[in-house]
Amino acid sequence: MQTVIDSSIGFSREDWQRGYASLKQEFDYWIDEIEGIIPSDLHGTLFRNGPGLLDVNGKRLHHPFDGDGMICAISFKEGRAHFRNRFVRTEGYLREQSAGRILYRGVFGTQKPGGWLANAFDFRLKNIANTHVIYWGGKLLALWEAAEPHRLDPSTLETLGLDDLDGILQPGEAFAAHPRIDPACDRTNGEPCLVNFSIKSGLSSTFKIYEFNPLGQLVSTYDRVVPGFAFVHDFVITPNYCIFFQNPVRFNPLPYAIGLQSAGQCITFHPEQPTRIVLIPRPPGNQGQTMDEQPAPQTRPTGKPGAVTFEVLSGFVFHHANAFEQGNQLVIDSICYASLPTVEPDADYRETDFDALAPGQLWRFRLDLDTGAVQRQSLESRCCEFPAVHPNHVGRPYRYTYLAAAHAPSGNAPNQAILKVDMESNQRQIWSAAPRGFVGEPVFLPRSGTAEDDGWLLALVFDAACDRSSVVILDARDLNRGPVARLHLKHHVPYGLHGSFTPQWFMD
Ligand code: CO
Repeated sequence: MQTVIDSSIGFSREDWQRGYASLKQEFDYWIDEIEGIIPSDLHGTLFRNGPGLLDVNGKRLHHPFDGDGMICAISFKEGRAHFRNRFVRTEGYLREQSAGRILYRGVFGTQKPGGWLANAFDFRLKNIANTHVIYWGGKLLALWEAAEPHRLDPSTLETLGLDDLDGILQPGEAFAAHPRIDPACDRTNGEPCLVNFSIKSGLSSTFKIYEFNPLGQLVSTYDRVVPGFAFVHDFVITPNYCIFFQNPVRFNPLPYAIGLQSAGQCITFHPEQPTRIVLIPRPPGNQGQTMDEQPAPQTRPTGKPGAVTFEVLSGFVFHHANAFEQGNQLVIDSICYASLPTVEPDADYRETDFDALAPGQLWRFRLDLDTGAVQRQSLESRCCEFPAVHPNHVGRPYRYTYLAAAHAPSGNAPNQAILKVDMESNQRQIWSAAPRGFVGEPVFLPRSGTAEDDGWLLALVFDAACDRSSVVILDARDLNRGPVARLHLKHHVPYGLHGSFTPQWFMD
């Protein structure tokens, strides 16, 4: 079929839509179609999560975020690479696959067949395990923010079941999909520490934070109550703070309760209201000390004791790049949208009018902890998402961020390029897969050098010209030169969400 690329936008909508086809088959093979050379020092496993099914037995889901989680593992060793994908065998996936039809309401608009009557007062959540995957404390965990993780076998990707993190989570309790790893934490004697959160939200919201040592043992947990409803997907950390953006949204549960809309569609954006930046101090290194024994932070709290809030007009934020402390200031870099992108009950997400939506753009927020003042500054106006930074710079001053970005420097468009932003020199480097390639989140993997950009960037790219995906490896020091290697898969992988790299090799 001849595809017409609209030269004014640089891609065709038909091409972009093709990446939203389900991948029902599960594969397990050595990748043998390789352009370039896989770096010999690349050793370990890239795990990646995202919706693998966009339909249930031919009945299309209303939104990709409602799709069942499918894990890909790309394992690197001695210049070779192996691919494997497996669906997370969640209870909902197994039940729907065996019934051959949609049995659950999705958070993002998918309804059971039969109209509103069939959906009214069905408040069951289908834990679809589709957002992120991490290897921590000897466990491979598929994450979905509204319920507990699923544990998988890292060698085979077989689903081992729900994981309550050694008794920490109650059945069905939330555990966010965006853990942050503090590279050197005094709570874990200078070792890395995984920090994650869960939120219980209603008229007020309880933010609960968990910190784990490299063995996966809980070293600290604390919570704070913040006024108002909170819809928070991601957060950032510094050595002393957890930082959340409480977007200006409201939740009206009525259309959800009576079966007219999904829970996600009942969240409305209120641009006339400020975003509230919520700071929750992390406890000091002494494990026995509780938060209440800490001195009050030297700021002007407007929330309840212990949580400090700042107000700013920022729009809607899903993802943050990083944050760091600088004297009496906190710096936070985030992808901001002018409004919350929504999919109406009657709309088809594949018909998205990109021009009608505001692009995500990278902004810097500077909070003065003494005066409570907030300044914001645009760092990058190109449409971008999925920021990545060097893991040793998480929560610390940093120079580079890597993003999936639009090919064109302005306007809203799908991600077709990998962009490197140098915040010191204000230089940019870009590698683009346009016009027919569409990129996912870049994962940064450091090399042994000391330079902050000495590392590899790994990303999945969907190529609409052949309906197949590839794994690209870019040298983070020089994106302009293009991939050092491109590993062609035998099939496509639907557009995904988040992934992580671990230096372990798990196969036999
Ligand atoms: Co995310």
